[in-house]
Amino acid sequence: MPKKKGRLEFLEMKKNGEKVTWITAYDFPTAMFAEAAGLDMILVGDSLGMVVLGYQGTIPVTMEDCISHCKAVRRGAPNTFVMGDMPFGSYQISDEQAVENAVRFFKEADVDAVKLEGGVRVESRIKAIADSGVLVCGHIGLTPQSSGPMGGFKAQGVTPDSARYVIEDALAVERAGAYALLVEGIPPELTEFITGRLSIPVYSIGAGWPCDGQLIICGDMLGQFQAFTPKFVKKYANLAEVITNAFKAYAEDVRTGKFPGDEHVYHIRKGCEAEYAAMLKEYEKR
Ligand code: KIV
Repeated sequence: MPKKKGRLEFLEMKKNGEKVTWITAYDFPTAMFAEAAGLDMILVGDSLGMVVLGYQGTIPVTMEDCISHCKAVRRGAPNTFVMGDMPFGSYQISDEQAVENAVRFFKEADVDAVKLEGGVRVESRIKAIADSGVLVCGHIGLTPQSSGPMGGFKAQGVTPDSARYVIEDALAVERAGAYALLVEGIPPELTEFITGRLSIPVYSIGAGWPCDGQLIICGDMLGQFQAFTPKFVKKYANLAEVITNAFKAYAEDVRTGKFPGDEHVYHIRKGCEAEYAAMLKEYEKR
């Protein structure tokens, strides 16, 4: 079994130009598959609100939702670096609230790190969490929790002025003591600049290849999440089709009496058939 990687290994990988492989997972079986596939990190993203719970966005997701899914993932992937995603409302109020909730992830769900969205505006939150001893990852660029005020899921940093904000955010995240940074939905040229400029690992989702590793949402890459598919997703499977076809075949088998078959039932213990039949007969008479 490969050894669980941590902050130091990820720093080493950055130095050696080795890419980190990172995926989201929200449940026990997916976490097991991720660990079996040898992926380096798992994010229990608040995207679970859309991918698993059927909300339109991530805003309704609660700390309880996140903790519960992180626990399931930890059970499925005991030897993989697991990151909990701080949901909207769990760090907006104060540094103290941010630390309290980050510590909950750590103590109750046994995660290795937490992630929160924002750069300059959450610098003091990141610092407070890092100072409390919890590893924290920043997340800048396209940040889904603020997609409402940003006018939807839109690429960021595509003009010089907007790129300036992204760079300032990246510098703030590193300055605050984050151990890593996730950049989402920005041009690869900007990703490359930030990756070269920061000493902490920089990972991308929808921000191209010139960085220290990639994250992808499992429901997107498995073809399970149907509402929309961002441009930056590559589909590696079509589980929606596989699952729907399996459900249809099951329904057809039940309707036509093909399932369950003799091989799917528990027979009466050998040797007591006659006694069994007599017992049923006795009930018939009542
Ligand atoms: O919740 C999540 O899965 C995320 C990714 C979109 C980066 O934060």
